[in-house]
Amino acid sequence: MIYFDNAATSYPKPECVYKEVDRCMREYGANPGRSGHRLSMHAGRIVLEARELLAELINTKKSDNIVFGLNVTDALNTVIKGLLNEGDHVITTSMEHNSVLRPLKQMENRGVETTIVQCDSKGELELSNVAKSIKPNTKAIICTHASNVTGTFMPIEDLGRLSRENGLVFVVDSAQTAGVYDIDVNAMNIDILTFTGHKSLLGPQGVGGFYIRDGIDLRQMREGGTGSMSESLVHPEILPDKYESGTPNTPGIAGLAAGLQFIKEVGIQNIRKHEETITKYFLEKISDIEGIKIYGTSLSKNRAPVVSINIEGKTSADISFILDGEYDIATRPGLHCAPLAHKTIGTFDRGTVRFSFGYFNTKDEVDKAVEALNSITKEVY
Ligand SMILES: Cc1ncc(COP(=O)(O)O)c(C=O)c1O
Repeated sequence: MIYFDNAATSYPKPECVYKEVDRCMREYGANPGRSGHRLSMHAGRIVLEARELLAELINTKKSDNIVFGLNVTDALNTVIKGLLNEGDHVITTSMEHNSVLRPLKQMENRGVETTIVQCDSKGELELSNVAKSIKPNTKAIICTHASNVTGTFMPIEDLGRLSRENGLVFVVDSAQTAGVYDIDVNAMNIDILTFTGHKSLLGPQGVGGFYIRDGIDLRQMREGGTGSMSESLVHPEILPDKYESGTPNTPGIAGLAAGLQFIKEVGIQNIRKHEETITKYFLEKISDIEGIKIYGTSLSKNRAPVVSINIEGKTSADISFILDGEYDIATRPGLHCAPLAHKTIGTFDRGTVRFSFGYFNTKDEVDKAVEALNSITKEVY
């Protein structure tokens, strides 16, 4: 199978990730930070190592400010529901995933007001439209780093500056970029960076979380055992315990640590270069095929390794089905959990076929996909 669905989850993982999950389950699968015996200490050290690797990746020394949870959806729910109060206003964009839009919609029932800034038909955000939306009660800007539909980058440095100048909390969803694109929470003025472990961070599914800047306080979603301050019935305020209760997904975190170590060893710039080369090669090859429509930023512009297309005369589901069944190629059709992004680019009625590339994809695989698309379009024309 040629796997071009890395924006949904990366596959395969580096060999070291499989090995570390297995090692955790077999050799030190105790409860981290709880019991004080050697296995528990070992598990705790691996969790700490994952926090430190993540902190290094996003350029902060504050590894305690990295909080683990289930995935970026879980992190965004914690952040959105813990940060916003009745009467607050929040700004987001029309290119967001439902993991931002649905919690915000839910918060409207609790008196939170949302402005969704419309992006253009390529998914690009005009900063002045965000600036114009700021009101006296605006509390936060919440924005994806890159669209999971078109790969279009949002201007996060500019948004960070704008947030800082206006005293807003800047929250970024790094689901499509962490592990491939440089993220510096200090230089970019990011107050809360949410991440998911199973995409370009190359870890297993079931682990994600967020970085939170000192001085920002959220209502925690749950209280419970943390292994710290057990004498108190009041949930601890210290980080990361405030937002982490209950036994974590230690095998998942161990796998994520291995994924992060792999990224560090290969070099994020080399991973990026490879994925950009593959994406550019695919775009160049398919732009010559009659009948294919490519969405998003112009071909010469940089984009995350995500390409959405359609073939006139076929539904996106049909194309993906044919690619899977006849050509052994995995893509994702439909709306990609981002309905407003599809409204923005004009594909809400039919969705798109999304090709998303990862570090393990090759030009040879792209050639096979191009051949398949050539044949499918010929059936139509
Ligand atoms: C931009 C973006 N945000 C959020 C998510 C949700 O990720 P998860 O399912 O890991 O919570 C995705 C996943 O598709 C995404 O692409």
